[in-house]
Amino acid sequence: MQTITVNTGRPYDVLIGRGLLVKAGELTARVHKPCTVAIVSDETVAGLYMAGVAQSFQNAGFRTVEYVFPAGEQSKNMAQLADLLDFLAQNELGRSDLIAALGGGVTGDLTGFAAASFQRGIGCVQLPTTLLAAVDSSVGGKTAVNLPSGKNLAGAFWQPELVLCDCDTFATLPEEELSAGGAECVKYAMLGDGELLEIITKQGLNAKWEDIVAPCVEYKARVVAEDEKEHGVRKLLNLGHTVGHAAERLSGYSIRHGEGVAMGMMVLTLAAEKRGVCARGVTARLEAALKALKLPTVCPYAPEDIAKASLGDKKRQGDSITLVLPRAVGDCFWQTIKTSEMLDWVRLGVEKGLS
Ligand SMILES: NC(=O)c1ccc[n+]([C@@H]2O[C@H](COP(=O)([O-])OP(=O)(O)OC[C@H]3O[C@@H](n4cnc5c(N)ncnc54)[C@H](O)[C@@H]3O)[C@@H](O)[C@H]2O)c1
Repeated sequence: MQTITVNTGRPYDVLIGRGLLVKAGELTARVHKPCTVAIVSDETVAGLYMAGVAQSFQNAGFRTVEYVFPAGEQSKNMAQLADLLDFLAQNELGRSDLIAALGGGVTGDLTGFAAASFQRGIGCVQLPTTLLAAVDSSVGGKTAVNLPSGKNLAGAFWQPELVLCDCDTFATLPEEELSAGGAECVKYAMLGDGELLEIITKQGLNAKWEDIVAPCVEYKARVVAEDEKEHGVRKLLNLGHTVGHAAERLSGYSIRHGEGVAMGMMVLTLAAEKRGVCARGVTARLEAALKALKLPTVCPYAPEDIAKASLGDKKRQGDSITLVLPRAVGDCFWQTIKTSEMLDWVRLGVEKGLS
């Protein structure tokens, strides 16, 4: 088991290993004295892991109550949040109690926001069960629900008290979900760890995941500690996301977030390489890693549509937008461009060939 400390205002540990869920109670008792814990999970994950996790908390002296909601992004909304908050009130949870998010990023975001807002804030433990949640959404304290006007528009920064990444849970994940989470691992490798990119390329979907999750979490922990509320360096974590969100939107959300991120990284890396701000050969290395994870490497939408959809991103500031670009594998930077320049960037990244 590896332990990574996230040095935010109130530091917390991320434990990465195998067989952690059945020890969730005992591990949580080290940071929070026994109380009532509301375990929140979607129907799929609850069917697989709820009983074991609840038993573990009970064995460690916690009282447990369980809240289960329909799986999928459509549950990450205000109505589900209100229902969950009311569940916490009905079960008489108080400020010293805990809420545990058992599941993927949807569960983590919904539960985290409930923890941030219930009685103005109660403790939260993240128990991620998707690769995406392990390397990304469970760490860093961003919580949110979607509004009819857009994704993640209502939320709060609320750091958990503990994160347990049990890589055994990936064994039950459908392959497409594992691939989608893998896109975020490639992102971390592009941002800060060239060796990690080679490991991902070699091991693909048969990876020894704890060895990949740990460096990703380490990178994220460092960035979050430096910039908890995303005023500066945390922007780097948006690598692949501006064009990625556009691709997701253009697909009518039929592609997964990770697939969009893969396309987004490809488009802007190729464009950066053509413009000479990124070293030669980086796009090819990125492409090989994405292919090893069975992720798309081509963005199938028209450059005009991608550029237009990208400019709807919340990272836009008036007539400028910030792009995160690789300089080399493991070395990225951000550059603010005029919105009028976006189409040229996208065109370069969508048109095949390096010349
Ligand atoms: N807060 C953040 O910093 C942050 C970062 C990235 C993404 N997100 C959010 O995360 C969400 C996406 O997360 P996700 O991809 O984990 O989605 P998800 O939570 O919907 O999980 C994907 C699917 O996998 C199933 N599942 C989960 N764990 C399983 C397991 N171990 N075995 C079998 N099935 C399992 C779920 O039931 C679901 O159907 C989005 O809403 C996105 O906005 C948040």
